[in-house]
This record gives sequence, structure tokens and C-alpha cells, in this order.
Amino acid sequence: MNDVTILLLGATGDLARRKLLPALYSLWREKKIEKCLIIGAAREKDATVAQIAEATRPYIQRGFDDTAWRDFVGTLVYEPIDFSVEEDFTQLARTIDILESERGLSGNRLVYVASASTFYCGITEKLSASGLVKKQTVGHQTTGSHVWHRIIYEKPFGWDLASAHAINACIAQHFNEKQIYRIDHYLTKELASNIALIRFSNCVLEPLWNNRYIDQVQIVLSEKMGIQNRGLYYDEYGALRDVVQNHLYELLALVCMEAPEKLEGDSIREQRAQVLKKVRFVDGILGQYAGYLDEQYVKKDSRTETFAALQLMVDNPRWAGVPFFLKTGKNLGKHETMIHIKFKQVDCLLAKQCPSDANYLTIQLSPEERFTLTLNVRRPGPEQELVPMHMDYCHSCNFALITPTPHEALIDEVIKGDQSVSVRCDEIESAWKSIDGIYAQGLPLYTYEPGTAGPKELEDFSNKHGMRWRS
Ligand code: BG6
Repeated sequence: MNDVTILLLGATGDLARRKLLPALYSLWREKKIEKCLIIGAAREKDATVAQIAEATRPYIQRGFDDTAWRDFVGTLVYEPIDFSVEEDFTQLARTIDILESERGLSGNRLVYVASASTFYCGITEKLSASGLVKKQTVGHQTTGSHVWHRIIYEKPFGWDLASAHAINACIAQHFNEKQIYRIDHYLTKELASNIALIRFSNCVLEPLWNNRYIDQVQIVLSEKMGIQNRGLYYDEYGALRDVVQNHLYELLALVCMEAPEKLEGDSIREQRAQVLKKVRFVDGILGQYAGYLDEQYVKKDSRTETFAALQLMVDNPRWAGVPFFLKTGKNLGKHETMIHIKFKQVDCLLAKQCPSDANYLTIQLSPEERFTLTLNVRRPGPEQELVPMHMDYCHSCNFALITPTPHEALIDEVIKGDQSVSVRCDEIESAWKSIDGIYAQGLPLYTYEPGTAGPKELEDFSNKHGMRWRS
């Protein structure tokens, strides 16, 4: 069992309340982090553990139990902190030393930085200067001891290539890459972690996984909800920076990567990084939902995109000539995250036997987790007619109760020291380089009605590329 001190910087924020504290509660209830100290720290001077617990409670969706919850809340400590004041970090380090020794903890430390990335460098410098996190040079551990110190940085990591590069350079001065986890919770979504596994563990798939048999790939992340109360953040970032640079590009990398030496740790990161270096933008359109300009904290003349549809290519021998279509948007008619792998159409044997459609492998991450393989089969009757049929594996139906949330899986993996859940610095910089290039194109921005499939110009885009979005 792991013994760990978890410091949550940004403990009063939306992410902590909705995702991180519920994830920590589950890990605690399942005894994955039984012996622990959880310190929440944030700017609010008057916040209390009771308030934080009350705000978190509605977001616990699985396995709520009164006694476990009370015990969990009992492990929490809240400390106000100003991220720009060094003395606050020094004081926090002293408090943690004392609490660790009182609770008999060995000093393994995990710091979760859930703040805006503009603070990352300053926070890193102060974590280092105060001794709260120590640089570790030998493998994952401090020389001569088994104690580890690790830091998680939330996405988006930076705002463009230059800022991401500056943050990476700053962090590298203080900590070893082995201690750093730039995370993307899409990498720990159950079906995303499954992509490489199903591909490399099934002989019926891997030989077909290339431009000889695959016609195109669509990756779609549609959301019904708008930007909610996140106008301040969202208006600065927009869809390309908020989800394409990270979630969609990481899914693309998982689909496209070459076989890693091992299906874990740095081997996977190396292969993902190789893919992102080869991504090339071809075409795209952007959109903004009607009513966006009236959202709280959004500039009245904002040109921030809440929708994007892109065509990309991956310039390597495996994927030469295969278009990758990515689409995302807020306030759309559907909530779904899907990857559709479209295989090439076979030749017709007889006019009537022409398959009505190509074969598809669909990997659905939400609203349900499932794999669907679409095959052409004969419809009974005198006509030799072929119709598409679905072979379906519903992961949620079988394993929903034992599937951890992405943030649970992520914290668990970091505690175990698995770096595959971390996006490597070159991987993140390649993704930003590509996004910077897309912004530099000055793509058209169209308005769309909430609850629709996006701007009506999406149809022109699809026609132009001879494709249709699969639903
Ligand atoms: C976050 C984005 O990273 O991912 C949000 O900031 C988005 O804007 C969310 O809604 C989508 O994640 P999920 O897990 O709800 O699909």
C-alpha cells in the first residue's frame, strides 16, 4: 500500500470540487491511498475543510458511504496560500513536515497544480526553494531512500508554443523529467487506454492498421453544454487550445502510434511524441455559438471559437494519404466523444452485392464506452442485398461499476510512477506548434445556433473533402 501526502494547489476551484476531490475520495475508499495526508491550498483565506467537503459532496457519483466520507474528510487539511509569496510556501512546507511526522508518513509527496498555467513557473520555483518538493536525480527516487516527490500540472499546459516552452524550461531547472506529470485526463479514460491494447493484442486489427486498408479517421468531441461559468478562462483559450491541442491530439496520437517497445511508461510517450511531430494541417473552419458574446466574462467583440472542424494529415509511411478529420464544439445538439476508423471500400462482385457502406471500427468514449465494428451482411430475401450491421461491445454495460474515473486512474498511475499518463515536453510542444500554425491560417469563423451540429458551412467543408461525418 502506498503512503502519500497529496498537496492540492487550487483546492477551492471547480476542478478540485468536481473531479479531484471525488477521485481522491474513491481512491481512499478503495484503500488505494489509505495512509495519507491531503492538504488543500488556495487563495481564499476563509475557506474551511467543511465548506470544501460540502461543495464536493454532490459530485461523488459512485460508492458514497457516510462513514468512509467522514473518515476521508478527517484526513483533509486546508491552508490558505498566495501563489506569488515564497514565505507562504516555506510555511506550508513546515506544516507538511510536522503533519507527516505526526501521522507517521514517510514523506512521499504528490503536488497537484490545478491553477492557470501562467502560475506554473512561479509555483515550481517556490516548491523548489521551500524544499516542499525536492529534485530527485536517481530514477524516481532520492538517493539512498525510497521516498518520491512528483508534481502534476493540469492542462492546458501553456497558451502557445512559446509559453509552453518557457514553462518547460523553467520546470526543468528545478525538477527531473521523471518527477513531472503534464497530464491530460483523456489519456486515462478507460477506452482511450484501451486503444493501443485492442490494436496490439488483436491479430485481426494490427495488420489492417495502415493506409493500405484505412480510408480515413474521424475524431469527434461534441458537447451539449456551453462554457458554463468559465468565460474568463474560455474566452482566452477557445476550442483549439482548450480541447484540440490536448484531448483530440492525444487521441490522434494513440490511434496513429507505432508499436511501443512496451505498452507502458516512456515507451508509449515516445511513440505518441513521434506522431505529433508529423501532424500537418490541411484545412479547417471555426465557429462560435449564437449567444456566446452574452456569456459572463466574455468580451463583447470576442472572436474566440467554440467550434472547430479540421482536416489533418500524419506525414509518415503508415498514414500517408489518410485524412484525419477532427471536430469539436460546445453547445451542440449531441454529447459524444467518438473515434471512427473507416476502412477502404471493397470492390463490388456483382452490382447488387456492392456493400452499402465501408467497414467502420468506432471507439466511443462517451456517453457510453463501447467498441462497434460495422460489417456488411446479406439481408434475407431473393435480392443479394448487403446491409451494414453492428458488432457491439459495451464496456460501460459490463464494467461501469469497477471502472475508475479518468482522474482516479490518473492519480493512481502517478502514485505508481507510470509516466505514460504524462505528456512529454516535446510531445506537448509539437501539439502547440501545430495549433499555433492553425491559428496563423486565419480560418473563417462562422456563427451557429445552439443545439445544432455546428455552423451550416460545415456541410461545404465536408463536401469539399468528399466526406460525411458519421454519427
Ligand atoms: C476539459 C475542457 O479539459 O475537458 C472542457 O477544459 C471540456 O472544456 C472537458 O468540457 C471535456 O472532458 P470530458 O471528460 O467531460 O469529456
